[in-house]
Amino acid sequence: MTSPLPVGVLVSGSGTNLQAIIDQQEAGLLSAEIKVVISNVKDAYAVKRAVNHGIEVKYISHKDFVSREAFDAELTNVLESYGVQLVVLAGFMRLLSTEFVSHWSFRLINIHPSLLPAFPGLNAQKQAFDHGVKITGCSVFFVDEGMDTGPIIIQASVPVMSDDTPELLASRILQEEHRILPIAIQWIANQSIRVEGRRVYTPDDPQ
Ligand code: GRF
Repeated sequence: MTSPLPVGVLVSGSGTNLQAIIDQQEAGLLSAEIKVVISNVKDAYAVKRAVNHGIEVKYISHKDFVSREAFDAELTNVLESYGVQLVVLAGFMRLLSTEFVSHWSFRLINIHPSLLPAFPGLNAQKQAFDHGVKITGCSVFFVDEGMDTGPIIIQASVPVMSDDTPELLASRILQEEHRILPIAIQWIANQSIRVEGRRVYTPDDPQ
């Protein structure tokens, strides 16, 4: 049996996506293992989740660094000290430098609560709601230098109901996030995806 893919998860918030990865890992359904969780917010609930499950946590405040590049270099130092080979952004609320993104190229994924390329950036669920779309969803993608522009690995659609609110819609999208993020990690861990330009070929693709 091959050893599990060493994963680092970057968080800033409640960490429900982190929890989804932990749950799959603990259920023995993931060929990956979270080696370290890094938070840039000291009292983020995600930190508590990691501690509760005996996962190493590092708090690194961006406020302690003179520049974005210096903060990001420390992120890389810590990730590499844990032997991380895949970095998962799970509600990490910091823009990353081009140096960090190119260093971790195709080893860095993010989850976003819209069907990209629609509604990149902040408050994607509310952007979709306010725009009046009938279908929205979530996307897991390889991070590139742009804002939520990288090659898409997996998406899930979520219909907008006539009696929806942005909050209700966001909570249904979140459930789908929890489903697709571990799938993307598993595919990467299994080496069962292939990237050609912007296209990511996965076991889900219709033959
Ligand atoms: C999720 O909606 C994710 O798509 C976005 O940030 C939120 C993080 O939620 N990038 P959580 O911290 O995983 O609960």
